[in-house]
Amino acid sequence: PGFWAVIPAAGVGRRMGADRPKQYLPLAGRTVLEHTLDIFFRHPRISGVVLVISADDGWFKDLDIKANKPLWVVDGGTERCHSVLNGLGVLMNHVDSQDWVLVHDAARPCLSDEDLDHLLDTLHNDPVGGILATPVRDTKKRAGPDGRIAATVDRGAMWRAFTPQMFRLGALEQALAQALAEDFLVTDEASAMEHAGQAPLLVEGSARNIKITQPEDLSLAAFYLSRQQT
Ligand code: CTP
Ligand code: MG
Repeated sequence: PGFWAVIPAAGVGRRMGADRPKQYLPLAGRTVLEHTLDIFFRHPRISGVVLVISADDGWFKDLDIKANKPLWVVDGGTERCHSVLNGLGVLMNHVDSQDWVLVHDAARPCLSDEDLDHLLDTLHNDPVGGILATPVRDTKKRAGPDGRIAATVDRGAMWRAFTPQMFRLGALEQALAQALAEDFLVTDEASAMEHAGQAPLLVEGSARNIKITQPEDLSLAAFYLSRQQT
C-alpha cells in the first residue's frame, strides 16, 4: 500500500503572536513549513503529500516548493480536525482507502528521518496504526480549582502525543467524520480512532519532535535542526 502524508498548515498561530502564521516564520534559512514538507519529499517511502492551508493565505505563494512526488494543496477548516478531514477527502478521491496516511503538523519541522522510518517499520503491518509519542519524564500533578495539587498522577503510564499519526485512510476518515458528527472533542487523530473503539499503538520517538508553539520554541528548533546530521 501507499504511504501518504497530510500536513495541516492552516492555523493562525495565536500563541506565537507573530506577524504571520508560525509555519511561515524563518527557521534555519527557510520557513518552518518548507522544512516540514522537505522531510516527506525526501523520504523514499512516502508516496505523496497533501498540504492543507488557509483559503485566505497570502504567504504560501512566496514559498519555494520543489515537489518531487504528487502534491495536493487544499483549503483548511475552522479547527485542526476540519483541516485534516479536508486533506483526507482529497486522498479518498485519488488513492486506495486501505493505504496508510500519516498526519503531521506543519509546526513540527524537527521530525527526524529515523523517527519517521521507525514509525513506518513498526506500523506497516499493524491492524490499527498508531502515533509517535514519548514517555513523560517529569512527575505529573493534577491541579485543583484553587491551584493547589489535588493529586499526583502515575507518570509510568503517561505519554506525550506527537505526530505523525498513522492510520488507514478510510478508517481514519470515517472515525474523524463520525467524531465530528457526534460533537466529540477531537484533539488529535488518535482520539478519533479511540472514540471509534480502536487502540492505536504508542511508538516511541525523540522528544526533539517539538511542536513550535511559542516564540522560544524557534531557537530550540533551530538548535535541534543544526544537530540532526550529527
Ligand atoms: N492547523 C490547521 N487548521 C486549523 C488549526 C491548526 O491546519 N484550523 C494546523 C496548524 O497550522 C499546525 C497544526 O495544525 O500546523 C497544529 O496546530 P497548532 O499548533 O495549534 O497551530 P495553530 O492553531 O496555528 O496555533 P494556535 O493554537 O496557537 O493558534
Ligand atoms: Mg491551534
